[in-house]
Amino acid sequence: MSIRLTIQDADGTILSLEGTEGDSLMSVIRDAGAEGLLAMCGGCCSCATCHVVVTGGPIDALTPPSADEQDLLGALPNVTPASRLSCQVPLSPALDGLCVTVMAEG
Ligand code: FES
Repeated sequence: MSIRLTIQDADGTILSLEGTEGDSLMSVIRDAGAEGLLAMCGGCCSCATCHVVVTGGPIDALTPPSADEQDLLGALPNVTPASRLSCQVPLSPALDGLCVTVMAEG
């Protein structure tokens, strides 16, 4: 089953994407070429350049951020209560319909 995602990139472009279970949210956004998602560490939870804000959909189905993710998010100047590092969000069917906005650097 594909998992449908609505992504607003850093330029404001809306992308309708599909991922599969086990993909990371980051990899789907990055592979679509969305503006603003650098993902410089490749998903190792060490760069925080995959920052997104969850804006809608099945928010309650997200697994909570780990302590490492929380530490990295806490160092960002533009963090919000709905911020996540997208490489730390594995896709599952329960996340079908998730909406996120890619946060520009800084
Ligand atoms: S890609 Fe580096 S922390 Fe997510």
